[in-house]
Amino acid sequence: MLQNAGGTAGHDGWVGCLTYKSIATAAPSAADLDSLVRKARARNRKLGVTGMLLYENGSFLQTLEGLPDQLEAVWTSIKQDPRHDHIEMLSEHVAPVRLFSDWDMLLQSRLDQSPGSGPKVATRSSPEAVAGYIEALVRLALNADDIGINTAIAGLAEEGWTSNAIVTLLIEPSARALGDAWLADDCSEFDLTIGLSMLQLAGHAVRYSVTADTIRTSRYSILLATAPGEPHALGTSMLADQFTDAGWRVDMAFPDSDEALANQLGAQHPDALDIGLSDALQRYHALAKLRATVERSRLVKLDQPTVISVGGRMFAEAAATAYSVGADHARMTAAGASIRMAELVRQSRARAQSAD
Ligand SMILES: Cc1cc2nc3c(=O)[nH]c(=O)nc-3n(C[C@H](O)[C@H](O)[C@H](O)COP(=O)(O)O)c2cc1C
Repeated sequence: MLQNAGGTAGHDGWVGCLTYKSIATAAPSAADLDSLVRKARARNRKLGVTGMLLYENGSFLQTLEGLPDQLEAVWTSIKQDPRHDHIEMLSEHVAPVRLFSDWDMLLQSRLDQSPGSGPKVATRSSPEAVAGYIEALVRLALNADDIGINTAIAGLAEEGWTSNAIVTLLIEPSARALGDAWLADDCSEFDLTIGLSMLQLAGHAVRYSVTADTIRTSRYSILLATAPGEPHALGTSMLADQFTDAGWRVDMAFPDSDEALANQLGAQHPDALDIGLSDALQRYHALAKLRATVERSRLVKLDQPTVISVGGRMFAEAAATAYSVGADHARMTAAGASIRMAELVRQSRARAQSAD
């Protein structure tokens, strides 16, 4: 463990912090991940870089913190590493204290268990090819061609795309493109809604399938809710698949008011709550309302504090942050959300215990 990680900071007391997600170019084995983490841990310790690395089903999510030069050195290596691609920066900022002081690298992995055997190639598609797939999916969605959508997505799954890659690289961007088509008057609200449900069903069909003995990996529970009055439920439904597969107890809510959501929260006492806005439309006007929804949810008396996450196009595109609505976390994508939330629930419980 780093001797002075918690207190180490720049001359003015600040450290650089970055978070990115990426897609593995080939599904790593347990030994591959172990070797990656061992080497990374050794180098990070030497450079005083802290953070965490999560891997699940073809996706990486990593947060790194450190002094600017050291952080830059590690980041330069990681960017060039052929073991992953489609690297997307989620946040980059300076912070007065480190978030990760107790460990230098945390690895939580759930190895790929896609049907079939042998290592799967996640994707090596160029950004141009991915843009072409999105265009094709949007065209199919606007023609209400559900068979076409299912065939296209099943074909990519056959080629070895993981369900996380399909969600992050295809389904979520297609939902945003559908929203743009509606804004540009290229389709009706009805077409948009039908298109979103078709994407939802196609995503559901290729979901990561697990065998019964790997199912109960978590004992946590989550209430997945659409924001009161939000009719688009694509993200919420993709989360339901994912959290169920990860072994969480999942309840869903489509409340029409903050009060209805608070009542369900009070009745169920979940460890976590996710509130989703549209994945297709930005809903700028809904921000203040969402903040009120989060505030109201926090007023519900519970034994343990509930970790609250929010999602939707505004958060995926970083047009809004968790902080702006008072949530604990904003998900940029549904992929990998169960791992991130499990970590936040653990941290929140540790904090509650140390405060007792
Ligand atoms: C997803 C991912 C995360 C990584 N994280 C780290 C890290 O935190 N620290 C590190 O030193 N190397 C990390 N690596 C390995 C680096 O990319 C690189 O292989 C290693 O630092 C050696 O760097 P060099 O080839 O520039 O000498 C990571 C690789 C991948 C694929």
